[in-house]
Parts: sequence; C-alpha cells; structure tokens
Amino acid sequence: MLSKIMTDNAHFLIQEAIKEREPASLIAIDATMGNGMDLCFLAQCPNIGRVIGFDIQSQAVAASYEKVKAFGSKVELILNTHAELLHYVQEVDVVMFNLGYLPHGSKNCTTQKESSLKAIQAALKCLNPQGIMTIITYPGHEEGKREHEAIQEYLSTKLPAQFLVLQMISCNVKGQCPVLFMIRHQS
Ligand SMILES: C[S@@+](CC[C@H](N)C(=O)[O-])C[C@H]1O[C@@H](n2cnc3c(N)ncnc32)[C@H](O)[C@@H]1O
Repeated sequence: MLSKIMTDNAHFLIQEAIKEREPASLIAIDATMGNGMDLCFLAQCPNIGRVIGFDIQSQAVAASYEKVKAFGSKVELILNTHAELLHYVQEVDVVMFNLGYLPHGSKNCTTQKESSLKAIQAALKCLNPQGIMTIITYPGHEEGKREHEAIQEYLSTKLPAQFLVLQMISCNVKGQCPVLFMIRHQS
C-alpha cells in the first residue's frame, strides 16, 4: 500500500516535470526493472522517445519484456547492474530507482548500498538540465536501511547546488515506510 503510494507519486512528479517537453524527445532509465511496472509507465509517456531498463535478474527482464514488447525498439532491456549504466547511455532526462527486492521474488537478491550509490552517482553525471530522478528506498529491512541511510547522507550533503532534492516520508509510520526522493537538475 505505502509502496504503491510512493510509486504513484514518483510517476506523478515525473509526468509534471516533463509535460511541456517535445514529444518523443527525452531519454529515460528504469534502473531497477523488476516486474516492469515503472518501465511500462515510462514507455507510455509520449514525451519520452527512448527507455533503457536495467536489472540483474533474468526473471525480471523476462517479466518486463512481456509488459513492454508492444513498444518495440523504444524500449531496451539490459541484463546488467545499474552501476554500469554509463557504458550504455551518456545523457538522460528521467531516471527511476525503485530499490529493494523483486516483488514475489527472492528477498536475497536485493539492491545493495555500494552499487546503488555508484549507479545514482553515474546517473547524476549524465542527467540533463531540467532532468528528474526519483529514488524509492525501503528502510524496513536490514540492507534497505543501510542503503537508505547512505543515499540520504549522500543526497543531503554531497550534491552540487544545481540539484534540488526533496524527500517524501510518512511522519507516523517511520521505520517500515518506504521513502521517496526526487532530484531535479535545475540549471
Ligand atoms: C523493487 S524491485 C523494482 C520494481 C520495479 N521497478 C517494478 O516496477 O516492478 C527492485 C529490482 O532491483 C533489482 N536489482 C537488484 N540489484 C540491482 C542492480 N545492481 N542493478 C539493477 N537492478 C538491480 C532486483 O532484481 C529487483 O528486480
């Protein structure tokens, strides 16, 4: 329920950020494809002309493919870690990270602090002016908490002034609640 609220809000923020942009002019990354819901959302945005999805699990790539195959060459699926994203893309306008483990999949295969931070830094490097990035963290499990704290520390203290960071969190469900970060490149 809470994760759906955060995901819906991430979609809303992205839609608002890109609604005035030229049709099919933007490049988007789904850094954690999972079951392909976010990937499908990005593929359906008319202002987005190219979507690149990453996941390290072949079952996630297969599930995502089923959701987006109708979009043809607009969507590229990559079975690799998002930490390597600069090998595939040099500029991007929209980036989504929905961290944690595959819903209904193995809880042992969850995103990790080190590679998530590396991927976020790589994505910020190639985020175009006016670009938007959303990150949902899940501090309710052990690795998720470690990852959340490292990302929060990084986003609060290490970003240059051209990036604005907002954070959405429940004020009465702390601990188990997913957290949504939105980063805008303001230049
Ligand atoms: C919460 S799920 C993503 C949900 C998804 N966006 C959706 O719409 O269904 C997190 C995904 O991150 C993937 N993942 C874990 N480590 C990764 C990494 N280093 N690079 C890319 N994906 C990773 C997992 O395999 C899992 O499928």
